[in-house]
Amino acid sequence: MQYAVRRPLLTWLKAQPVAGRRVLDVGCGDRPYEPLFAGAAEVVGFDRPGNPYADIHGSIEAIPVEDASFDVVLCLQVLEHVPDPGAAVRELRRVVRPGGLVLATTHGVYPFHPNPEDLWRWTDTGLERLFEENGEWSSLTVTPGAGTALTVAMLVAHLADLFFKRAHVRPLGAPLVFALNAGGEALDRAVPLLRAPVPGSLNANFHVAAVG
Ligand SMILES: C[S@@+](CC[C@H](N)C(=O)[O-])C[C@H]1O[C@@H](n2cnc3c(N)ncnc32)[C@H](O)[C@@H]1O
Repeated sequence: MQYAVRRPLLTWLKAQPVAGRRVLDVGCGDRPYEPLFAGAAEVVGFDRPGNPYADIHGSIEAIPVEDASFDVVLCLQVLEHVPDPGAAVRELRRVVRPGGLVLATTHGVYPFHPNPEDLWRWTDTGLERLFEENGEWSSLTVTPGAGTALTVAMLVAHLADLFFKRAHVRPLGAPLVFALNAGGEALDRAVPLLRAPVPGSLNANFHVAAVG
């Protein structure tokens, strides 16, 4: 189910300049992207109290680090879970150095998944506005992750998975989910309009790159 989010996110993250830089991973979870940052000078994981993978703990509205102390600040699949996304973006801006990079991702269209809560969904222009209103940036880009075909495939796959799970034969659904993801991805690749955020588009996820 996460293919539509994780696959484009991996490709995007791999292209980011982290070599030799100090990286803060805000809402790091179990740090699934750590291998991509092997060349970084340091990667500090931050998450809520109780997360054993985090180096430092707290809540995103008050990250316990100095102003402008990181070159790259990650906030991947976290904003949809926080009560005050504006306060969160202000903290991301505070902790990144001038000229440093904030990389944030969050959902457009996606099933409900509380962790501990699931509060928000976005459009590309809504995310742009959230960042513009809560920080000064020298550049800001918001791009879709999955296009419309892969996003629709994800939703159909989600429904199929629910059905197979309810019938206690979940593994039987795996080939269908695989085929849906592959078909959706191929269609998005073949038709550029399906990858663009235009009226009528559906996007599972958005990628924000903001330079402080
Ligand atoms: C969906 S997980 C994403 C984890 C990881 N970034 C990833 O992409 O796999 C959301 C993470 O945000 C964290 N989180 C939720 N609310 C938070 C808050 N108010 N402050 C800090 N972290 C928070 C959760 O503990 C969880 O680790």
